[in-house]
Amino acid sequence: MKKIVIAIDGYSACGKSSTAKGVASVLGYTYIDSGAMYRAVTLYFDRNHVSITNTQEVKKALENIDITFIVNDKTGLNETYLNGLNVEDEIRKMYISKQVSQVSMIKEVRVEMVSQQQKLGKKKGVVMDGRDIGTVVFPDAELKLFMDADIYVRAGRRQQELLDKGQMIGLEEIMENLKERDRIDTTRKESPLVKAEDATIVDTTFRTLEEQIEEVVNLALSKILDGDSTQLELE
Ligand code: CDP
Ligand code: CDP
Repeated sequence: MKKIVIAIDGYSACGKSSTAKGVASVLGYTYIDSGAMYRAVTLYFDRNHVSITNTQEVKKALENIDITFIVNDKTGLNETYLNGLNVEDEIRKMYISKQVSQVSMIKEVRVEMVSQQQKLGKKKGVVMDGRDIGTVVFPDAELKLFMDADIYVRAGRRQQELLDKGQMIGLEEIMENLKERDRIDTTRKESPLVKAEDATIVDTTFRTLEEQIEEVVNLALSKILDGDSTQLELE
């Protein structure tokens, strides 16, 4: 069966990665969390006190950063490794969320991450989520989605997610972080978050995760089977 690239962009915490994981699992595709890569870079910068205004320091740091995704045998999901260490939980913490959009503004960081992401998606059969996937990383992706949801709903969902991991953070603090990241992400000079012209909008405010996954799987199937009459007859 034909393999496609599915690009999911949108605001923070509206369900991009959960939907992407579900869709990838149904289709047998690889899920790639591009945000995790920016978070891993941020963690490295934080630990090594890299000055984000010093281009030479940034370039040198990027040379020393190796980000990989390794499947966890128990969950079957990709986990993020930074220079050989599993950082999957650390990069989701609030102190990283508070710095990540500043790091993601840096041109050198974006150029390096985009190049790595393009390599990861070269063979197709991938679902990648982020902010510039349908516009910059894979402008030719066969299916592009742009996700959104009400800010209160997004903050509530993120709060629950953090609580499930034992981190108790107030709703106001989470909402401020989401708003601030959305502001920086949409207004930055280098590949800002914008809806690709050919992206389909998915508002998740009143939907369940299962409904979102089903909708995206159906959209993907129509692209996969597009023009392939043999497949259509088989269905
Ligand atoms: O999951 P959440 O929406 O909180 O964020 P994320 O997808 O983990 O991304 C964290 C941050 O990385 C975003 O707020 C952006 O600043 C940056 N990012 C980006 O600039 N480009 C991407 N393709 C993905 C993430
Ligand atoms: O990747 P992004 O930051 O856009 O959002 P996410 O991390 O996939 O979703 C944030 C939380 O919302 C996760 O705990 C999801 O399970 C939950 N959620 C959702 O994504 N969609 C719904 N309709 C309901 C809850």
